[in-house]
Amino acid sequence: MLAEPDPLLCRALASDLKDAGFTSDALRAAWGAVADTAIARGLRGPADRQLGARADPLAVLGRLLVLGMPQPAASVCLALPRTGPDGLARLGLVRREGDVVRPRAIIRPQAYADDRGSGQWWIASDLDEAALGGPLPEDHVLGVGGASLSLAGLQLPTPVARGLDVGTGCGIQALRARRDVAEVVATDVSEAALRFTRLNALLNDVSGIRTRRGSLFEPVAGERFDRIVSNPPFVITPRVAGVPAYEYRDGGMQGDDLVAAFVGGVGAHLEPGGVAQLLGNWESRDGATGLDRVRAWVEASAVPLDAWIVEREALDPLSYAELWIRDGGTVPGTPAFAALVDAWLDDFAARGVTEVGFGYVLLRRPVAGDPTLARYERIPQALDPRTALGSHYADALAAHDRLVRLDDDGLAAAVLVVASDVTEARHHLPGVESPSVLELRQGAGFARTVPVDPGLAALVGASDGDLPVGVLVDAIASLLEVDADELRSELLPAVRELLFTGFLRFGD
Ligand SMILES: C[S@@+](CC[C@H](N)C(=O)[O-])C[C@H]1O[C@@H](n2cnc3c(N)ncnc32)[C@H](O)[C@@H]1O
Repeated sequence: MLAEPDPLLCRALASDLKDAGFTSDALRAAWGAVADTAIARGLRGPADRQLGARADPLAVLGRLLVLGMPQPAASVCLALPRTGPDGLARLGLVRREGDVVRPRAIIRPQAYADDRGSGQWWIASDLDEAALGGPLPEDHVLGVGGASLSLAGLQLPTPVARGLDVGTGCGIQALRARRDVAEVVATDVSEAALRFTRLNALLNDVSGIRTRRGSLFEPVAGERFDRIVSNPPFVITPRVAGVPAYEYRDGGMQGDDLVAAFVGGVGAHLEPGGVAQLLGNWESRDGATGLDRVRAWVEASAVPLDAWIVEREALDPLSYAELWIRDGGTVPGTPAFAALVDAWLDDFAARGVTEVGFGYVLLRRPVAGDPTLARYERIPQALDPRTALGSHYADALAAHDRLVRLDDDGLAAAVLVVASDVTEARHHLPGVESPSVLELRQGAGFARTVPVDPGLAALVGASDGDLPVGVLVDAIASLLEVDADELRSELLPAVRELLFTGFLRFGD
């Protein structure tokens, strides 16, 4: 296990990494975009090839800390003059074997960009499959992956006092949370993970992260937070001998019970107005869709909660099993792979599972009164991986709260503006002048496309921050020669939806 990080050594290492220009851009430039993407797939050979015989500090550190390859001690001394191989060894990041320095962990630069600006963290974690040259041990501490980045991007960018990161791993969510949250408690069942979190906080000079060991909410019994984030170990795993139980992805429960336990328990740990954001898997079982089952978990919470649940994808049981067996490093086509597939399919069959959904959960404890938000939706379209949805979530919640207070007369009196990323698409049957399909498309947020009728298209088009909605509806009714009251009762619910989803914004 990693040694308890020494703050002075971490500072020395950070200065060395900075001087060596150890950034994701510099590494990408050194080994090229193709090899850079291959590293994420566990292939380090192409990057090493591109570095060739280079022995400059960036190349040495790229091989040692990113690709997890042994390096000559003399080169490491030159690349990290303050820390040297012995300092790295004291941190538990390498092992010195004579003139060779062997990595025991990796450190990868991770660029980030949010509402407050952009920057970069160095994130240390256990050696990955590429560096180990085989399957991961069950107590592996995960580095930053696609799911980590999705949740980091989803985090609300609004400032609050106290946050909690459950299942912190290498600490990426806690670091992201600290951009907006004054103090963060980061928990994990794994002491090794908590040491990586403490190391990464020191390495990146981020204070205000406290670590605590324990399962789910045990380490914070009786405490409440303004913000809770979690990329929990949600992967559904058969509980039979021979199936590895990876700590980093498997919470040890049956089916999707861990996500259900999280949803059921989190309300008690939220301050009024507090928000929890997590990723999860949920099973569709014989007639009950995954989203219906999540709804039942939310409705069973002892603390009533606002809920916005987004299912991003759904996999059939076989595809799900293959995905996670491959992730564990078992090679497809081997008897071991086939045996694991059987175990997964037996497990799913025992509960009548027809599909497994993956998505984003947002739960909020109302400041006062009953919940007002209950959205359960599928949003399957691919998004640019760089899209950070945090501001979109914050805008949607703010629009929702305002709309709850506005009756239809209030909404008719409001002045609206169409968002700058919205375009209109018109589809015509060949040779027909008037369009048969009108759509509004969003460039940002969830990149939604919504069909609209001519009345709503005209209202959105005329929403330039000048005239109130009611005046526009009356003008459109007279243009279309329809009843103004009927048009208003048809359009106002659609306007509410467009305000929530970010096509329209309040003009003041
Ligand atoms: C998928 S990893 C997420 C790591 C990191 N937060 C991220 O976003 O990349 C899940 C983490 O949960 C931890 N974990 C596993 N079971 C847990 C439990 N019952 N309670 C809290 N954490 C747990 C694992 O050790 C692991 O670090």
